[in-house]
Amino acid sequence: MAENTTTQTGTPVPSDAHSLTTGADGTTALHDRYLVEKLAQFNRERIPERIVHAKGGGAFGEFVATEDVSQYTRAAVFQKGAKSETLLRFSSVAGEMGSPDTWRDVRGFALRFYTTEGNYDIVGNNTPVFFIRDGIKFPDFIHSQKRLPGSGLRDSDMQWDFWTLSPESAHQVTYLMGDRGLPQSWRTMNGYGSHTYQWINAAGERFWVKYHFKTRQGDLYLSGEEAEAIAGADADYYRRDLYEAIERGEHPTWDVFVQVMPYADAAGYRFNPFDLTKVWPHADYPLIPVGHFTLNRNPKNFFAEIEQAALSPANTVPGIDISPDKMLMARVFSYPDAQRYRVGTNYNQIPVNAPHAAEVHNYSQDGAQRHGFNDPSVPVYAPNSFGGPTASAEAAGAGSWESDGELTRTAATLHAEDDDFGQPGTLYREVYSAETKERFHATLLGQAQAITIDDIRERFFQYWTNVDAGLGELLRAAYAQAAVEDGAA
Ligand code: HEM
Repeated sequence: MAENTTTQTGTPVPSDAHSLTTGADGTTALHDRYLVEKLAQFNRERIPERIVHAKGGGAFGEFVATEDVSQYTRAAVFQKGAKSETLLRFSSVAGEMGSPDTWRDVRGFALRFYTTEGNYDIVGNNTPVFFIRDGIKFPDFIHSQKRLPGSGLRDSDMQWDFWTLSPESAHQVTYLMGDRGLPQSWRTMNGYGSHTYQWINAAGERFWVKYHFKTRQGDLYLSGEEAEAIAGADADYYRRDLYEAIERGEHPTWDVFVQVMPYADAAGYRFNPFDLTKVWPHADYPLIPVGHFTLNRNPKNFFAEIEQAALSPANTVPGIDISPDKMLMARVFSYPDAQRYRVGTNYNQIPVNAPHAAEVHNYSQDGAQRHGFNDPSVPVYAPNSFGGPTASAEAAGAGSWESDGELTRTAATLHAEDDDFGQPGTLYREVYSAETKERFHATLLGQAQAITIDDIRERFFQYWTNVDAGLGELLRAAYAQAAVEDGAA
């Protein structure tokens, strides 16, 4: 039998369908507490969408560590045989909450492990690099990809203005304009931690690592035409695909690998290993298998479990830490700050964010929407002489790195082969197949045609000439040819 409808405080309500009025046709009574509660709650159903990566979806599953990597990290989650509940949220970057899934974009790949030592989040993308290498540029970069303040429209001129004035973007833009900008589904794309992180083993030895998540579903993409048609027909194409696959019992799986760089290699490596616009070629540091994870459970409530999920690079566990990557250091501040605003002070008490396999003990208390209780037998301050929780440097096993020098506002040091266009040139010439190149050229021609300011278009051609001289020439010629054909038409 159906339950009685109640107010939020559990009192049965007299009607689901009729407000309290003075006679059947009279005025509505303000003291209809259920009506007021229902409308007031409704008005507050929305919370601010994520400032970036607003459109997304996700699911839960399990990670299994199948290999022995204990020589590199003592993190419990990565000890052979360990199993951890996981959450993976996929997203687009620039579009708003309701934007079509298949607009060309980088895709977010935000992975949480609910470990016995607390939550560990790897908030990455489907590309191994990023557009910029210093967090101070992030708001400018995002503004250039979102909407003009006057017209409220997205704008090719400002996108390309920013990119061509920020040559460090070339590697990521080469990925974005290639097949990775249009995955066939979230299931059929690889993920990357992108940054360099630090692993620390039981003996305290440190290593630099990069994460790679390889899809077992095949690394598949859409053509520009397919993506455009789908954007019109089904804005939630990726979200639906993931949800329905899991409901059908098709549980997508990714293999987890790391590249490991010995701590001391960093100083002399040919690329600055903390520069997020660079990859480490696999010939230098091969992929080492760690385990795999499978998504096997859809959220029961999308808002509670996906919208309110607050993933953050600041969530690390003993045996893992960040590196001196300027972007990563900015991110560990930015995410908790965004989440305190977006979800609320006590966002980590919400079930999807609270640790599932570890306990919380600290001296924080109170704040809006607090619903966990501090144990009244535990003192509310530290230090104390009543047996309250105490920090343990050994338990935390925080990472560290040598650094020296004055406080400065400069670019990080350049290593022997560091330049902005070398790796994107290699990606274009040596990794892209003939067919990928063809689609890439067509996409870039479309981009050149969308630019309305001649100076910016000229910089666009120079940018791609810097990536590859032949590519630059080809684009100039294709653009001129298309202009002639347009004129003749
Ligand atoms: C300094 C640079 C960056 C800043 C300041 C920044 C900031 C943010 C903020 C504020 C959010 C929203 C968080 C929330 O409300 O829950 C977010 C989401 C996200 N960011 Fe970044 N971000 C940066 C760089 C990156 C990079 C380099 C990556 C990938 C390698 C990345 C991947 C993501 C993903 C995947 C999400 C969505 C997380 C989710 O699914 O909930 N971001 N970012």
